[in-house]
Amino acid sequence: MSSSEVTAALLLSVITGSLGHICIVFPHQRGPLDISTSGNPSCFRHGAPCGGQNAEDPKVTLAAGGTAFIKWQQNYNHYSVGYSGYMDVAIAPLSSSDFKLLAVVSDKYVYAQDHQRNYTVVVSVPDMECDHCVIRVRYNAHKPGENTFYQCTDVRVTKTQMTQLLPQLPPYGKNEHICLHKALQLISPPHRRTTDGVTFYGIMYSRNQPDVANYVAVDAATGAIADITTLKYGVGFSRGRLGDVNANYIADGVAAVDPPRGITVMMNHLLSSSLDAPASTMLELGTNNGTVVRHGNVLGFDQRPFSAVVYQSFGQYLTFSIEEETTKPGNYYFVVGGLDWSGNWQEAVRMLDTENTYVNFQWAEYDPGRMMLFVLMGNENDADGLSARIYTFDVSNKSFMSHAEVDVSNYTFMSMQLYSKTGQLLAVSPGLFKDTYPGYSLVSVDPFTGAVVKLAEIAQAGIFENYYGGTIFNGVDQEKGFLYYMLRVADAEADVIATITLSDMTTTFSKITNIRHVHNLARGI
Ligand SMILES: *[C@@H]1O[C@H](CO)[C@@H](O)[C@H](O)[C@H]1NC(C)=O
Ligand SMILES: *[C@@H]1O[C@H](CO)[C@@H](O)[C@H](O)[C@H]1NC(C)=O
Ligand SMILES: *[C@@H]1O[C@H](CO)[C@@H](O)[C@H](O)[C@H]1NC(C)=O
Ligand SMILES: *[C@@H]1O[C@H](CO)[C@@H](O)[C@H](O)[C@H]1NC(C)=O
Repeated sequence: MSSSEVTAALLLSVITGSLGHICIVFPHQRGPLDISTSGNPSCFRHGAPCGGQNAEDPKVTLAAGGTAFIKWQQNYNHYSVGYSGYMDVAIAPLSSSDFKLLAVVSDKYVYAQDHQRNYTVVVSVPDMECDHCVIRVRYNAHKPGENTFYQCTDVRVTKTQMTQLLPQLPPYGKNEHICLHKALQLISPPHRRTTDGVTFYGIMYSRNQPDVANYVAVDAATGAIADITTLKYGVGFSRGRLGDVNANYIADGVAAVDPPRGITVMMNHLLSSSLDAPASTMLELGTNNGTVVRHGNVLGFDQRPFSAVVYQSFGQYLTFSIEEETTKPGNYYFVVGGLDWSGNWQEAVRMLDTENTYVNFQWAEYDPGRMMLFVLMGNENDADGLSARIYTFDVSNKSFMSHAEVDVSNYTFMSMQLYSKTGQLLAVSPGLFKDTYPGYSLVSVDPFTGAVVKLAEIAQAGIFENYYGGTIFNGVDQEKGFLYYMLRVADAEADVIATITLSDMTTTFSKITNIRHVHNLARGI
């Protein structure tokens, strides 16, 4: 190639790479909007904060403190393998650069750049009066060569008409948002709500500041998220910036609420240790205030990562870990340990035989009445059938008792929680793994026979996505007899919290919210 041909080829590749990427559909973005084609120029805007578009008069009025729907189209996908990007929505008064984050959606791997996909998020509007505010939607693909894409839309936020102002629904296509519309019908009227005054707590990482996480409160009735405090740890090292690995993070999916102490125990991975090291420090947070009450090394820790830390009694916890048999790779011991509030760890029970198939840890649940720990382990070779076993450990005499094969012929699940009043282990199940818009059921599971019995229908099919991660730590209110569970609305970035009343097996639903980015969600005390 001559040098001019090289230049032309380079130019061509730059131009082909510069197709359209993101457009705000509702409220209508600044300037023209055309989502009829992928790569449309109206969806291709760079430059903070608004892609170079001038402010316009607000076209939509939102209720301060209320709910709003924001819809955009990813008009081209730039998924970056190993370093996935995100889209986020934020609001600020006109001319301010102090954007408050409203929602984050992670980029999805669709294996094709030429891809159009609509997203609708449900956001909590800040409780402030604002004659002219700006909603900014960004797409940061993390992809080498792609700069962040920006769009803005202008809105008014008012407190005056709050009661009359219902959230305005975005326009939707023929087969779209049906699930969201059905979910909206589920919201329980206030007189049926059983969740007033109930609060969940969790950690939400900040995309822009991977070294910190926000400890947040989630209102069980409205789903509204409120910041409580900032923790100086991230959630998972993969959230760090490129080339700046953040290894000071809280382990996702491990949390134990200690009700008499008012403490939630989590595990933290230290900045100074290798990325391959297990999380070895114990982080004790005030459950309702997020204050770090204690953060210290686990003493006696044998370097096997804790799959679970489970509340046993005041200041006492059980741990579960999986330890490879060094002389027989691929074979594992299951180890139950005792951990106390000073961080002392000791092995308590070790299974004598090793296991090589049921090695996918899913959940550990302690029954203080029977002094037994039940551990749900999935079959490594049955990713879609989700066959599983329950391993039972007797903590009173420190012995492994038995395991049972779970009946997964009609109901599969990945967690189970004790209801102490009946001694039942309860699970929320979307049926079988292959069901895409499944109905949800409450089932009970017998840890000694593996028998599974349906107790009640929670939600009909056609509303929620097939998701196994909706369990809330400390999610059963043993005194009042409620089980709380989070469900994800299919085809929307929207969630609801279901409250099952265990005395009569009826279910009520929170308002629609967006809490899928809140980790280690636990019911407060
Ligand atoms: C996106 O939503 C618009 C309506 O706002 C609809 O016309 C279009 O078909 C949808 N596109 C996709 C890819 O679902
Ligand atoms: C936070 O809660 C914990 C547990 O209830 C308590 O010990 C601690 O004093 C509280 N901290 C603050 C600052 O209120
Ligand atoms: C431990 O206790 C259980 C139940 O009381 C009993 O079935 C089991 O045999 C005991 N195991 C040992 C090793 O003593
Ligand atoms: C599973 O469902 C089938 C079809 O409804 C039913 O015949 C069968 O008894 C169920 N099995 C169990 C274990 O509940």
